[in-house]
Amino acid sequence: MSKKWQITVPGSTANLGPGFDSIGLGLSLYLKLDVSLQDSWEIIHLDDNGPSEFELEQHLLYIIAKKIADQYKKNLPTCRVEMASELPLARGLGSSAAVIVAGIELANQLCDLKLTVQDKLNLSSQIEGHPDNATASVLGGLTISSMDENGIVDTFHVNDINASFVVYVPDVELKTSESRSVLPKQFDRAYAVRASANANMLAASLMVRDFERAGHYMEADLFHEPFRSTLIPQYAEIKEAAKANGAYGTALSGAGPTLISIIPTAIAEGFVATMQAKFPEHHIILTKADEHGVQVI
Ligand code: HSE
Repeated sequence: MSKKWQITVPGSTANLGPGFDSIGLGLSLYLKLDVSLQDSWEIIHLDDNGPSEFELEQHLLYIIAKKIADQYKKNLPTCRVEMASELPLARGLGSSAAVIVAGIELANQLCDLKLTVQDKLNLSSQIEGHPDNATASVLGGLTISSMDENGIVDTFHVNDINASFVVYVPDVELKTSESRSVLPKQFDRAYAVRASANANMLAASLMVRDFERAGHYMEADLFHEPFRSTLIPQYAEIKEAAKANGAYGTALSGAGPTLISIIPTAIAEGFVATMQAKFPEHHIILTKADEHGVQVI
């Protein structure tokens, strides 16, 4: 067994509007772990995108790695992990899913579990409770997924999403649980049919890479954004300004509070500069689709 690994996991955006709990996209923003075997546990965060103080047993990475080792009836070897993350916490960029995928891969490497990609898709989605962010972090690219009642995930995976994406990260956190608590428990049938039709159109538009049409449907969500929008700083203003400056469309990234626009790559630099000048309190980042998913070196 090797004694050192680097594990890289992309962050992700979920939903892209109406693809609620199903559609994900791996982003070129990363969580990186440098792992080396040693005779006690040590987890070190190299930046602010992790807890500053924690007990080992409460750290999500350790919890997941231990859970997976236990599930496969293996002892988890002790190690030192240095974590560097470009994913701010509780902002809707899949930071938890990335740590879950990293924890599964950590156990996979440390315990030599030989997990398949399908195992990783199932395990990470079961832990998250929905497959959107988790599948995107495992595979990169665009993922359209369904998880059955036994936790088995079926994912349609598409690379070459050659548009650019701009994320608007506000300086406030929003926990997914809080953002899910405002959602209705039920929809009536006519409403659900319209919501699901918009999700179908989004998926189809992305599959044929009609990004203009995808942008239109990203703005046509009925499952969650109408109920979450009041929790999101400058929700309407950012969407309107993005459209006026050439974005195809803008949606909440996951449960928010980050928003994400899909834009033509040709306008990317000017677009970001214009939006940053208009929204100086947001951290605005130009990203693209990650093409690799979780990687181990
Ligand atoms: N699909 C999830 C949601 C993503 O919108 O709540 C965040 O976990």
